[in-house]
Amino acid sequence: MYTDLQGKTAVVTGGTTGLGMSIVERYLEEGMNVVADYVGELKMTDDLKALQDKYGKKLVLAQADVSNEDDVDSLAKAATDNFGSIDVWVNNAGIEKPFATADMPYDEWQKVIDVNLGGVFLGTRAALRDFQKNSTKGSIINMSSVHQQIPWPTFAHYAASKGGTKMFTETVALEYAEQGIRVNDICPGAIDTPINAKKFADPKQKAKTESMVPMKEIGKPSYVADAAAFLASEQAHYVTGTSLFVDGGMALYPAFEGGAG
Ligand code: NAI
Ligand code: BGC
Repeated sequence: MYTDLQGKTAVVTGGTTGLGMSIVERYLEEGMNVVADYVGELKMTDDLKALQDKYGKKLVLAQADVSNEDDVDSLAKAATDNFGSIDVWVNNAGIEKPFATADMPYDEWQKVIDVNLGGVFLGTRAALRDFQKNSTKGSIINMSSVHQQIPWPTFAHYAASKGGTKMFTETVALEYAEQGIRVNDICPGAIDTPINAKKFADPKQKAKTESMVPMKEIGKPSYVADAAAFLASEQAHYVTGTSLFVDGGMALYPAFEGGAG
């Protein structure tokens, strides 16, 4: 637990499913106020309802498309209207859909870039504006991926968006370090969330992915939430512009295991 997080306010985009929801739950457990963003129609799952029942007004659900400027500004407003100011902003929302690059329609490229990279920019900008207004030494956490570094055929748009997130994170971290504002990214490997539901429903594909993780385990969302709690907290007060890999070693060139090569 990170006691300094108690009473602080976080915004988490894509906060009602998968990694986002796990981070929302962890932040609520830490005693934070949380605005969980969703896009389109809200799917009130049993898990989400249970969080609402348990935490009441400390959890606000707000609709915002992270690729839409006005939506992101209104998301920030939902946070300040409810809780006064913002301390932590997690740009977690993201999408992926495979296409051979030669067959990739431009609008599919653009959609992924707009949500995964444009959304990170818009969320970061909204957070920075609030931090500066209130002289908050806030923390921005961007959900990148091992694919900010590992090439991923048929996901060129996705890998480009995550590689862009890395450089964006480092640049903004440098730009605002003097103000005590920290900007970091998390690079999950293969984690069991809705984004992977179809793939992991097939035992062969799941086993194939497991074999690509040196620790031989598909990750749980809570492993990523642990990293998000650390990066939000004072324990990470000297950590900025870094990428925290939460991947069971997936980014360590597993093909070289055992001395191959
Ligand atoms: P997920 O599909 O459950 O989460 C994505 C969330 O983003 C959903 O809640 C979705 O509604 C939301 N979203 C999509 N478009 C949006 C938009 N325009 N505006 C607002 N919200 C939008 O899957 P998961 O795994 O939780 O993904 C979260 C993030 O983690 C993504 O950025 C993904 O790229 C990243 N990631 C996931 C990994 C995994 O293995 N699950 C590994 C590495 C990175
Ligand atoms: C993707 C997952 C994939 C993981 C490892 C993530 O960025 O969202 O679908 O399993 O990388 O390849």
